Amino acid sequence: MQISYFHVPAEMPQSVHPSAAVVIDVLRATTTIAWALHNGAEAIQAFADVDALHTAAAAWPADARLLVGERGGQKLEGFDLGNSPVTVGPEIVAGKRLFMSTTNGTRALDRVRDVPLLMTAALPNREAVAQRLHQHKPDTLAIVGSGWEGSYSLEDSLAAGALVHRLLELDAAANAAANDEATAALALWKQWMHDPEACLRTATHGQRLIRIGNHDADFQCCAGLDQLSTVPIQGEPGVLKAA
Ligand code: MLT
Repeated sequence: MQISYFHVPAEMPQSVHPSAAVVIDVLRATTTIAWALHNGAEAIQAFADVDALHTAAAAWPADARLLVGERGGQKLEGFDLGNSPVTVGPEIVAGKRLFMSTTNGTRALDRVRDVPLLMTAALPNREAVAQRLHQHKPDTLAIVGSGWEGSYSLEDSLAAGALVHRLLELDAAANAAANDEATAALALWKQWMHDPEACLRTATHGQRLIRIGNHDADFQCCAGLDQLSTVPIQGEPGVLKAA
């Protein structure tokens, strides 16, 4: 397995066609996706564009849908939920389809929606995603960070490093030196692996969330390593289900 990491979707060259891709948005979209599916959501349907989200949601039964929207860390007006993983409890999401649009995470998903095997990962389901990739053994894997409005984000690179670390433990023959970004992400994980929450709080988006208000529960949840067996996998384009 040739493992490459791209800090943001735009860094992945158009000429690269990996057999598998994993999208990461630790704070907080892919953490919320993992927890929502773990808690029984029927599916997450991701949208880069809010108008497209409203059109698709309107065609779904009202009692079986939730609108999840975030921009700049804040819940979007008129939406049922923002993007906090601690708000997607089973009593709220079980059996529901979540129509979701976030600042960066859902845009990153949109960029790689044509990759044959597409998953999302966060720290809570890092082990589950690594095991699934180990089973599938794709020749080429692109790990794609969501970043923040086109720029590098520390926490996505931390989780990319955590995933690379585990993939190398599972398969010593995997090549994580396919690009320098994967090597650097691995070094970052080794630096913070004993206190990932401190890394999340140090990151600029972590600082942004702290400025908006108390996000202690979110930080704790997003930093919790290997707690979930849920692997969000794309079936039809833009739709993630637990598989
Ligand atoms: C994003 O998509 O940029 C995020 O998940 C932002 C957030 O809600 O913290």
